[in-house]
Amino acid sequence: MHINDLLSLKGKVCLVSGGAGLYGKGITEGLAEAGGTVIIASRNGVNIEETAGTFRQNGLDVHALQVDQSDHSSVIVLKNSIMEKFGKLDVFVNNAVARPMKGYNDDLGNFDVSMKINATGMMDILREMADLIAAGGGGSVINIASMMGMFGPDISNYEGTDMGTPPPDYFFHNAGLINLTRYLARVLACKNIRVNCVSPGGLFNYQPERFLENYCKKVPLKRMANRDDIKGVIVLLASEAGAYINGENILMDGGMHA
Ligand SMILES: NC(=O)c1ccc[n+]([C@@H]2O[C@H](COP(=O)([O-])OP(=O)(O)OC[C@H]3O[C@@H](n4cnc5c(N)ncnc54)[C@H](O)[C@@H]3O)[C@@H](O)[C@H]2O)c1
Repeated sequence: MHINDLLSLKGKVCLVSGGAGLYGKGITEGLAEAGGTVIIASRNGVNIEETAGTFRQNGLDVHALQVDQSDHSSVIVLKNSIMEKFGKLDVFVNNAVARPMKGYNDDLGNFDVSMKINATGMMDILREMADLIAAGGGGSVINIASMMGMFGPDISNYEGTDMGTPPPDYFFHNAGLINLTRYLARVLACKNIRVNCVSPGGLFNYQPERFLENYCKKVPLKRMANRDDIKGVIVLLASEAGAYINGENILMDGGMHA
């Protein structure tokens, strides 16, 4: 097969949870530019409608469906709506995240809230979407974790800022997601579903100057990630070009941990 055909997502229906978020927009754009029909799903219906509308104005086939992944009935509504409106699902990018915990000393109640969304809810949406993909004969699941699921926090990045200590729940659930990827890769292979993970580094989002200085000097490429950086790896894993990649976790940090 020609490489352009291997990388094409024409005819594929892709779901991106948290698709209106920072990394979500780049993921959505990449999948749609590769020819896919992309559904973005998250809690804020107005926000995702607006984001999908902007993508459509730019000629991309992007749609919005609301979901709260911490609510099982909402996940089932999403599943049924995908079947009714699109007839199948080929690719799920599991990208949504909630950040209820603000630092090391934050209330444990917020750790609970985080687990309800980022662990239990995430497992729920993963299982339901994998069912849909299996029903159509197979496809690809891509989990978005973080380099913070692979390494401890570099506290010196926050020196001279008022950003505080990074919250522990984020390190906990992202690390779990990386090994859940390996588990699912083995369990779902019999349904012709590949499961991989991407662990990105920090995305530029107008962080405080001092943080950018601290952070970027540790990255061999001397910058944070931008919205385009994630597109290639997602399209590779979503498409036939990645057909023999399964159970992998790809660190995308500009060489920070090389
Ligand atoms: N931003 C970064 O620098 C960075 C770095 C490394 C990894 N990541 C990873 O990238 C992914 C996306 O992060 P981001 O920074 O773009 O996030 P973001 O905060 O910009 O967007 C997160 C999205 O998830 C949605 N969401 C939250 N709770 C939800 C729920 N209960 N149900 C459905 N949707 C819900 C939000 O509405 C939002 O659209 C995450 O997995 C994160 O761990 C981000």
